[in-house]
Amino acid sequence: MTDVARTRAELRDALDRDAVAGDGPVVLVPTMGALHDGHRVLLRAARAAGRTVVASIFVNPLQFGPDEDLDRYPRTLDADLAVCRDEKVDLVFAPSAAQMYPGGSPSVTVHPGPAGQVLEGEFRPGFFTGVLTVVLKLFSLVRPDIAVFGEKDAQQLALVRRMSADLDLGVAIQPVPTVRDPDGLAISSRNRYLSDSERRAALALPHALWAAADVASSGGSPAAVTTAARAELDSAHLAVDYVALADPDSFQPVITGPAVLAVAARAGATRLIDNIRLELTGAADH
Ligand code: PAJ
Repeated sequence: MTDVARTRAELRDALDRDAVAGDGPVVLVPTMGALHDGHRVLLRAARAAGRTVVASIFVNPLQFGPDEDLDRYPRTLDADLAVCRDEKVDLVFAPSAAQMYPGGSPSVTVHPGPAGQVLEGEFRPGFFTGVLTVVLKLFSLVRPDIAVFGEKDAQQLALVRRMSADLDLGVAIQPVPTVRDPDGLAISSRNRYLSDSERRAALALPHALWAAADVASSGGSPAAVTTAARAELDSAHLAVDYVALADPDSFQPVITGPAVLAVAARAGATRLIDNIRLELTGAADH
């Protein structure tokens, strides 16, 4: 049975009942709802990893910029609860903003450090402070042993890992590979904003990653890798925010060894991100 807690008190009661019921890891899957097949894979990974699976559903105002889509972000709680029941989630925590932030916007927040200043951090000022602050609050409220995050948001995953280690939160972070539609587009709650023609153009994101991975695996230079990706995005007339090779942990620029190729581009008004892991073996151009 899936329990639903809308308040901190209900969450505490449900977790206390659960603690009496037996031991075993408590696994948290933080989400903003509008649950899709990508989220389902996270919930299944959580189910496989622990005894008690808690999913949180909270559209976190703190991580949206003033010109972003907070008001129109999809809110589909009934459908989300059906997904959670289907995936055998034990407890859904779906608080209101007033429950999460009883004193209004918090004045003490988490500073993401250098890995949070670049790429998404540069294009969405305040975004990672908002993400890490709400994730830390969710960790404090739920006290999970394990938390599951998607590689789709590779920089977010790296920062949450860093936060758990640097601040001794004691939460093991379990990654889940990106879940894609059959044609390659990474599944995202924001894909529902795309018109048919924008969705076709958005396919340039996975094509860019695959083209770049081909160049990297045949020993191309870092510049050749990013050029191959950019050519795909340009040919679909997407507005590119960045195409960057980053260290998978620090997200600082890399030119050799393991790397994440991260891309962000806009199809119409919808901003999409995607990434792929690759190995840079080619010489850097000078
Ligand atoms: P949201 O976008 O709802 O994503 C919740 C989790 O699902 C994140 O860990 C994200 O990386 C993962 N996810 C989304 N699409 C995925 C896909 N196609 N494949 C694999 N994993 C996918 O990310 C957030 O919410 C928020 O920033 C949050 C962490 C909940 C903090 O508010």
